[in-house]
Amino acid sequence: MPDRVKVAVLISGRGSNMAALIYAAKTNDCPYEIILVASNDPQAAGLILAEAEGIATFSHPHKGLSRKEHDQIMHDAITQAGADYITLAGYMRILSDDFVSKWQDHMLNIHPSLLPKYKGLDTYQRALDASDSHAGCSVHLVTPELDDGPVLAQTKVAILPNDTAEILADRVLIAEHQLYPATLAQYVTREADPNWILDQVRIRALALEETYERPSFGTPGWRVGSEKTGKYFAYFSQRHFGEIGTSVFVKTSGLDEQGALLDADPDLYFAPKFYGKSGWIAIRLDTGRTDWDHIADSLTKSWRMVAPKRLTRIMDIADDF
Ligand code: GRF
Repeated sequence: MPDRVKVAVLISGRGSNMAALIYAAKTNDCPYEIILVASNDPQAAGLILAEAEGIATFSHPHKGLSRKEHDQIMHDAITQAGADYITLAGYMRILSDDFVSKWQDHMLNIHPSLLPKYKGLDTYQRALDASDSHAGCSVHLVTPELDDGPVLAQTKVAILPNDTAEILADRVLIAEHQLYPATLAQYVTREADPNWILDQVRIRALALEETYERPSFGTPGWRVGSEKTGKYFAYFSQRHFGEIGTSVFVKTSGLDEQGALLDADPDLYFAPKFYGKSGWIAIRLDTGRTDWDHIADSLTKSWRMVAPKRLTRIMDIADDF
């Protein structure tokens, strides 16, 4: 099995979601392993189970410490354990912006509502009071705002006529225990999913001025300019025209630059068969170490080479200074 992604779980209480993650990690082909369970409460019941399952634990009470100080202690323990990702599972602490930004895109939380509905506490009672037909749970990325980050996945849970908040909470919890491990598995392997990769290219290509998507010989491509006279500045290739792997084709300034790139990093670049002769370069997107800022830069450079002058004029003037 290839190296598994290392995950730390942060808890404050009983840790049933933690248990779900621990046991999911023991199933065949699970792409992650739980390497640490950490808590702000040394008495958290979940710590006892984690220990019994042979998982390293860490706890440090927050009493008498500033939020920043406590977060730093947790951060140090988590990085020392070698974690790539953090999952919050009933961790009842608001995290400092500093901590959140250190773990940006690498920290997930589970929340017992269909976000953006019912952020914060008492989610079940609020769903009952609103006579909602369904409650549910959401797994989301953690951003500085409470329960506000991008939602990765949700499960809807039917509300029954005689439900109380407690009964409903138990049913939502069953859904949580399915959703969290499955979403985490999908998230940590996203870089191997061609659809996810395509979306990343698309977002960056369409963020450039006056661009639109148009398929070219059956593969997505992006053009700049008008529908009629626009020109392609990027193509997505998933083994297109018999090429290897998943890549994006962008324009270089010519064969000199293309050659220099091929020499500089032959694992990252290759010359695409048909477009290569006119100076296009392919950048691999399936190495597992894609630098998305670099992809955005390459798309921008390529865009600039074919964009109408009225769009690039300001940049050209800035360059002259
Ligand atoms: C769960 O309801 C979860 O949605 C919320 O906190 C609770 C934690 O429960 N974030 P447990 O400790 O995982 O059992």
